[in-house]
Amino acid sequence: MAFIPSEDRYKTMPYNRCGKSGLKLPAISLGLWHNFGGVTLYENSRNMVRKAFDLGVTHFDIANNYGPPPGSAEESYGRILKSDFHGYRDEMVISTKAGYYMWPGPYGEWGSKKSLMASLDQSLQRLGLDYVDIFYHHRPDPETPLEETMRALDLMVRQGKALYVGISNYNAQQAKQAVTILKSLGTPCLIHQARYSMLDRWVENGLLDVLEEEGVGCIAFSPLAKGLLTDRYINGIPADSRAAGSSVFLKPDNITPQVMEKVVKLNDLAGKRGQSLAQMALSWLLKDKRVTSVLIGASKPEQVEDCVKAAHSADFSQEELQIIEDILRK
Ligand SMILES: NC(=O)c1ccc[n+]([C@@H]2O[C@H](COP(=O)([O-])OP(=O)(O)OC[C@H]3O[C@@H](n4cnc5c(N)ncnc54)[C@H](OP(=O)(O)O)[C@@H]3O)[C@@H](O)[C@H]2O)c1
Repeated sequence: MAFIPSEDRYKTMPYNRCGKSGLKLPAISLGLWHNFGGVTLYENSRNMVRKAFDLGVTHFDIANNYGPPPGSAEESYGRILKSDFHGYRDEMVISTKAGYYMWPGPYGEWGSKKSLMASLDQSLQRLGLDYVDIFYHHRPDPETPLEETMRALDLMVRQGKALYVGISNYNAQQAKQAVTILKSLGTPCLIHQARYSMLDRWVENGLLDVLEEEGVGCIAFSPLAKGLLTDRYINGIPADSRAAGSSVFLKPDNITPQVMEKVVKLNDLAGKRGQSLAQMALSWLLKDKRVTSVLIGASKPEQVEDCVKAAHSADFSQEELQIIEDILRK
């Protein structure tokens, strides 16, 4: 049956301005790194996108290599767009990236103009789109001159294949240089996609300050620490969880007693606030106005539903903030 999006989809989600640009992003965005590849159940991926869109999530984030197999998340999303979202392209902000390994040989990764231009063309083909809204350089390249990488991003915008460009995984100094080069080329850096959660706060050490000074937005990826900052692992490792699967980025070894001690205490506090732990972890990031959006992952539509509720309750008392600091510091 044809999908008809909810008429109420714009009633509750806050949309935050991305840095000093004209673009607004939903407080909660959905990433397609896991659970959207060719090996996963297509109907579940489709239902997550439908659920997210119905709840006001307008931003969907992908990369050339998301799968598995690499490229298949873009194909799945392209298929979902075609089957369910005909006529809704202009209500969506779709991003993709290149920089990590994608194809063999010297041009399949990093940041040369050769690699990035080819990758974006491949992504557009898999997605079935003429342009993406945001194209990111996925990671800094220690060998390619930054000028060349930024010129490639600028060219994508001039060619109309990307409306905006961003960077990901750049440290504060690298970000400042990239932003400066892009500015000189006349294509501002829209956004930085950085790993940020209660359990991983490296961006507080300079990067967020640079982004604020330069008027660049920040979207926090893995805001739930890949699932650790939820109630998922409180009673062990569920068979359908990421840690029980084949991910090399979250393994049973990462579920340590030290981490779980913090998680259990945070979960208690979240309960007292009337939130799930996932919601509290997201609200905690969104209290900082430099964070434009939090980029969640999900394995079921119910998780998207749970996370989206975080957008409405970012307030914390001073006492709650102190309790959180004490738990995280231990
Ligand atoms: N730029 C980069 O280098 C980079 C790197 C990594 C990620 N990203 C982006 O960030 C996105 C999110 O990354 P991530 O998947 O690691 O994010 P995350 O939000 O930290 O973790 C997502 C996982 O948390 C669990 N979860 C989510 N909501 C839940 C809820 N309400 N209750 C209980 N558990 C819940 C699910 O685990 P289960 O699967 O176990 O159910 C889900 O797969 C990616 O899709 C990608 O777009 C970018």
